[in-house]
Amino acid sequence: MNFFHTHISKDAARRVADVLETTFVSEGATVKEFEDELSAHLGIRNPVAVNSGTSALHLGLQLAGVGAGDEVILPAQTFVASGLSILTTGAAPVFADIDYETGNLDLASVRAKLSDKTKAIMPVHWAGYPCDMDELNALAEERNLAVIEDAAHALGATYKGKPVGALSDFTAFSFQAIKHLTTGDGGAIACRDAETAERAKALRWFGIDRRRAEPSILGERKYDLNEVGYKYHMNNYAAALGLANLDDFPAILARRREIGLRYRETLANVDGLRLLEAKEDRESAYWQFTVLVERREDFIRALKERGVPASVVHLRIDENSVFGGKTPGLENQERFNERQVGLPIHNGLSDEDVETVLSSIKAGW
Ligand SMILES: Cc1ncc(COP(=O)(O)O)c(C=O)c1O
Repeated sequence: MNFFHTHISKDAARRVADVLETTFVSEGATVKEFEDELSAHLGIRNPVAVNSGTSALHLGLQLAGVGAGDEVILPAQTFVASGLSILTTGAAPVFADIDYETGNLDLASVRAKLSDKTKAIMPVHWAGYPCDMDELNALAEERNLAVIEDAAHALGATYKGKPVGALSDFTAFSFQAIKHLTTGDGGAIACRDAETAERAKALRWFGIDRRRAEPSILGERKYDLNEVGYKYHMNNYAAALGLANLDDFPAILARRREIGLRYRETLANVDGLRLLEAKEDRESAYWQFTVLVERREDFIRALKERGVPASVVHLRIDENSVFGGKTPGLENQERFNERQVGLPIHNGLSDEDVETVLSSIKAGW
């Protein structure tokens, strides 16, 4: 039984081969088709495909005008990519506490961390479970802040009937190898409005706006570069893999949810184990299934002996020197960090595997 699973659709090889045959391997029509399908099938607003989730976060921050001297509030319960993307803009990451029941940003703590330098909030949908977006968006509006959601775990999640990717100014997705939709490596930044998405398309390609670059007899188009851009675009062959996997995505998501539900109903009353919150108004993408356990190392060891991989995926990131070391006073984060562990959850698991996970936990640790 594997902890992570990389899904490669049966149709992937053919679709990637089709792109290779054209020899147009860089960014072109297949990337556009992938973006269109993300909108059409998952309701993602104005997605711009890039080469990683980290690039998507960085573009979202730059498009929101975040730069040197600014502060961005985020949780420490995430991967280092969230904090690094903020540092890359020259801004400072400010870590707020999380809700112990979800691993997501705690609104009161976000309020307490606001300063006159705060420019943006970066909520992270931990394990794929949506944050309290109405409250966070209302606070952002009240204080004139941008919201850049880190939805690396949350493709396919919904909040009050709306898809993650259609809730705020910017939403960053990751299609890295172990995500539930992969393009090998890749990402997308969803933008509230179409014009901002056009700017994102320029920024992902050195800052050159192809709509305004005039053809010239010289061959090289004429353009004036007026801001720093990046080489962040997605390739056609990555998009072809994404398109093939997108066809399977409803089944992938349904299987994760089925396993998640089975875990929830069976583990609701296990001594020493606590489930995270699951409110009726939102649906997790279940990229991970996090539980909070007493004596975590014993838990992981006992499950390993029974053939079940359980793993901590991301420990709090603020403790890294690059982020200035442990932020004091994050009490929920402290407890969450000591107890959180992930159970295997993916479409490569059989029903028998799922029952093995459950019986191994019920046997105790
Ligand atoms: C919460 C979170 N944010 C951002 C990223 C970065 O995504 P990528 O690896 O596609 O750059 C990841 C994972 O890789 C992640 O888990």
